[in-house]
Amino acid sequence: MTTDYDAIVLGAGAAGMMCAATAGQRGKRVLLIDHNAQPGRKIVISGGGRCNFTNIGTAPDRFISANPHFARSALSRYTPQDFLSLVEAYGIAWHEKTLGQLFCDGSAMQVVDLLLAECSKGGVELALGQPTGAVEHGDGHFRVTTGARTYRAPALVVATGGPSIPKLGATGLAYELARAFGLKVVEPRPALVPLTLGSDEVLFRKLSGVSAPVVARTGKAEFAEAALFTHRGLSGPAILQISSYWRRGETVGIDFLPERARGWLREAKHASPRATLRSTLARSLPDRLAEALADQIALPGELANQRDTKLDEVAARLADWRFHPNGSEGFAKAEVTVGGISTAELSSQSFEARRVPGLYAIGEAVDVTGWLGGYNFQWAWASGWAAGQSL
Ligand code: FDA
Repeated sequence: MTTDYDAIVLGAGAAGMMCAATAGQRGKRVLLIDHNAQPGRKIVISGGGRCNFTNIGTAPDRFISANPHFARSALSRYTPQDFLSLVEAYGIAWHEKTLGQLFCDGSAMQVVDLLLAECSKGGVELALGQPTGAVEHGDGHFRVTTGARTYRAPALVVATGGPSIPKLGATGLAYELARAFGLKVVEPRPALVPLTLGSDEVLFRKLSGVSAPVVARTGKAEFAEAALFTHRGLSGPAILQISSYWRRGETVGIDFLPERARGWLREAKHASPRATLRSTLARSLPDRLAEALADQIALPGELANQRDTKLDEVAARLADWRFHPNGSEGFAKAEVTVGGISTAELSSQSFEARRVPGLYAIGEAVDVTGWLGGYNFQWAWASGWAAGQSL
């Protein structure tokens, strides 16, 4: 049995629900399909259960893409304030946590309920909990089969996200479909993910649980936030952010004392000549971290015994401590995916594929990835809204 719609949206996540609701409220007959029985599973667990639903500092330079300009149009047409207005219209209490990050006061489930209510306002039909079968295209229509049912529409929106966290139902379907339709895919990599350290840096693993505010750098990217040592390597917001830019084989530089001016250790020697490096570091860093760094630097005795040039060298090492990650914790732990369906294939206005009229791709499936801090949901809302306007 085949049922006809104006549009089929594949993937009832953040972008898919926003797109379906927008198109539905414009009078389109929309079907929203997901293989999970529960829509928006990533929303539910996001932001520690409180959903960091947007960032008021949203700007195109907070997104990674082979084409840094692609996100501009959608981000300027559907802004953080637009989503915030929706949140407020539903009476959802919210707060700004830090760095422009907006969270629900209550539960992330409120955001899922908001999106479902918006879908319902638009008369969107849901087909949940059925594995997606064949997706076919011909005679100006897309046909999607789930179980015994086949659905048909002149427009298909791929909103199945990226492969991060498979246990929540994430798959690479978006890339498979893109390739099947002849669209290029920018190599996907896990992002916003902890990095792992090899045996030569094993000493740092004994610091598991210790965190400190640092500046983390790789290439031209740098983030001033907290880093956390784990039993496998490095995590915490500064490392998650830098992981999106890090490539295998590259180092990550950590400035453990970002507030300190050059020559600070020399000055510390003159102020407290009897202090050791460890005791000096312990004034600004967690004790275990101060001990581990001092052990590695192995500066004998009191600061008074050291030449100023040696102390400057040590200060420089502490300002750019080189870690050599041997990998990341992979898609199993990555909050998002860098890469995806190439933006060169899509209109930045409508998200329609240039060479396959009627085919759209939005959200994390596309090669646009935000920083940590609500940017990825803002991209999902903005791209979903823009596609929903043009279906
Ligand atoms: P999303 O992954 O949300 O939705 C895709 C949908 O497609 C899913 O419902 C999935 O079941 C479905 N699907 C996949 N394969 C399918 C198939 N084969 N057949 C049928 N359906 C299929 N971002 C942010 O801005 N603030 C935050 O607080 C957080 N927190 C956070 C925590 C954790 C633990 C994770 C993993 C991620 C975040 N994120 C985040 C990132 C954010 O969740 C992510 O960027 C968006 O959910 C992407 O929205 P999409 O709709 O594109 O994909």
